[in-house]
Amino acid sequence: MRALFLLLRFVVVAWAVVSALLLYSLTQRYKSSRACPYSWRWMLDNLPRRVVQPVRSTVDSFHIDKGHTVLELGPGPGYFSVEVARRLGPEGRLVCVDIQPEMIGTLRRRLLREGVTNALPMVGDALGLPLADRSVDCAFLVTVLGEVPDRPKALAELRRVLKPGGILSITETLPDPDYQFPDVVRDLCRASGFRLLEHHRRLLGFTMNFAVGEGAPTP
Ligand SMILES: C[S@@+](CC[C@H](N)C(=O)[O-])C[C@H]1O[C@@H](n2cnc3c(N)ncnc32)[C@H](O)[C@@H]1O
Repeated sequence: MRALFLLLRFVVVAWAVVSALLLYSLTQRYKSSRACPYSWRWMLDNLPRRVVQPVRSTVDSFHIDKGHTVLELGPGPGYFSVEVARRLGPEGRLVCVDIQPEMIGTLRRRLLREGVTNALPMVGDALGLPLADRSVDCAFLVTVLGEVPDRPKALAELRRVLKPGGILSITETLPDPDYQFPDVVRDLCRASGFRLLEHHRRLLGFTMNFAVGEGAPTP
């Protein structure tokens, strides 16, 4: 019992430290680019995150089906990429697009280390995705939307590359300094022609899944 209490206390303190560092990074970030700096990549994979946002249970809500082609926008160093690529199986394909070449380099090494062969890491921008129209079954992004300067344009790009009936999955988690509130995500996606299918609430965030709507985006 005492050991459990100590572990919980450690997790809470560690999470508070991570939050403080993230807030510090926020103040630094706006001096330069908006994307999460490469030097802060360790914030994206650590014990407190594994407790607060476990990989497997989070990925369970993304609609990852064997044999599908999936886009991961803004994978960073790949906290979710290995698990998603494995779930897709040898017939499936994971395309990872990140604006920072250093993140893609780290992700590439991680995939190699883990023996993942069905993932394709690419440097690219959410505002002009390097993918063909209607080419992916599912696109997911975790704590990325708030870093993109023109969110409606990014959502229009995601809509363009998704197949009819495709799924867009957006996850936001505190204490991300660019955290997007559920209402904001829902309204932005609706205006971009997506229909809300599911809203998974979590302790420090949420996942919303959307389907590509039939009609044109709302102006
Ligand atoms: C906070 S990190 C999240 C990384 C990963 N999704 C995770 O949850 O561990 C945000 C990532 O999005 C990427 N990113 C930011 N703006 C982007 C854009 N316009 N196009 C593509 N990637 C972008 C950043 O380079 C960074 O790797």
